[in-house]
Amino acid sequence: MKEVRDQYEQFPYPERDPTDEKKRLITGSPSHPGEIDTYIFGGMRDWSQPIKILIAGGGTGDSLIMIASMLATKKVPAEIHYIDLSQAACKIAEQRAEIRGLQNIIFHSDDILNASSYGVFDYIDCCGVLHHLKEPQAGFKALAGTLKPEGGLGGMVYAPFGRTGVYPLQAALRILVGDLPTRKKLSQAKKIVEGLPKTNWFPKNDCLGDHKLGDAGFYDLLLHSQDRAFTVTQLNTYLQQAGLALCGLIEPILYDPLEYLPDEAEIRARVKQMPPIEQAQLAENLSGAIKTHVFYACKSASKESAFFHFNPPPTNMQLVPRLKNIAPAKLAHHLAKKGRLSIGLSGRSYDRVLDKKLAPMIALIDGRPLGNIASTLGLDPISFQNQWCQVHHPLSEFNVLYYSRKF
Ligand SMILES: C[S@@+](CC[C@H](N)C(=O)[O-])C[C@H]1O[C@@H](n2cnc3c(N)ncnc32)[C@H](O)[C@@H]1O
Repeated sequence: MKEVRDQYEQFPYPERDPTDEKKRLITGSPSHPGEIDTYIFGGMRDWSQPIKILIAGGGTGDSLIMIASMLATKKVPAEIHYIDLSQAACKIAEQRAEIRGLQNIIFHSDDILNASSYGVFDYIDCCGVLHHLKEPQAGFKALAGTLKPEGGLGGMVYAPFGRTGVYPLQAALRILVGDLPTRKKLSQAKKIVEGLPKTNWFPKNDCLGDHKLGDAGFYDLLLHSQDRAFTVTQLNTYLQQAGLALCGLIEPILYDPLEYLPDEAEIRARVKQMPPIEQAQLAENLSGAIKTHVFYACKSASKESAFFHFNPPPTNMQLVPRLKNIAPAKLAHHLAKKGRLSIGLSGRSYDRVLDKKLAPMIALIDGRPLGNIASTLGLDPISFQNQWCQVHHPLSEFNVLYYSRKF
């Protein structure tokens, strides 16, 4: 633990200049409030009610600032606790919050294993931390133990195959430079990495880029003292042993094995009869490019049926669908012209064909409930569900569609 703390005292992660808060807000997954609503609260959270959130191992504050700012903007009564071992990281996160005038955060320099000292939470964000614990299972359990029964966790852990080349190189660097003082270690390691032969898997792996993002990124990727990766099956086991159920993987399409297989009925049938977690593992094995698992997990096992995304699509007509990072009119226009959607993820393009006739429905994803979309289009419930299904599946697989009455 001392080595991990020392690293993040010297190299608070990720490298951030607090004054950049005046120019931009970093958003992403997990922990976008609309995603939290969709995956943990079934899209029906009442945001006028208070929410208590834990940011576990918050680093320099990306998730923290995203959630705290978005909730403050929409005047959601929120109490957000940030915990991190590194005081240097905490200071940067505090400065970012101060520049934004955020009043809804309480900062703690502490170990996430002590999370229960701060109460019970509706939602916990834990990104890029659990794979750095000596005993990850203790971390999963500590966090699960501080969740309210209806609460949930959004997290990120490393995945092995997309990080091909990292671990043999870490082992080599440990032998060659592991005992040098930090600065010397870093400069020597950079020389070694620059001179690697073309045959080494690290330079061959074009999924990897953190080492190019400054010293903190380089150190984090290649000189970490405690770092492991989990397959999606292993992640699922850790979660289950902590009493949590995996209820979402982002982006869902990455975990669809059919994306990586020939379009043949026999193969399709074989895949379709596999349980969801086995399908996800198959996809991870076939893709080779999944370097992290971004996931949602909830305490209530009954929500496991929401695995991947709502499946089947939701029937509650009060749900409010929303699009992430794209205006409905723009997406509708694109679809009416092309009849397909493409998205670039992890070095590959993913495609979905969508009937051009669905464009008017997509144009109505503007903050109104499903019931209103149906009546505006003059559709009876059955015809609406048939059409909504065709919108819901591709857009939520791309993580472009979510459900929230507020965000
Ligand atoms: C890779 S950084 C991730 C930071 C942030 N969550 C993000 O995704 O940008 C890992 C962070 O976890 C913190 N950390 C590691 N082990 C911890 C522990 N046991 N308790 C609290 N914080 C810890 C480190 O200090 C560091 O700031």
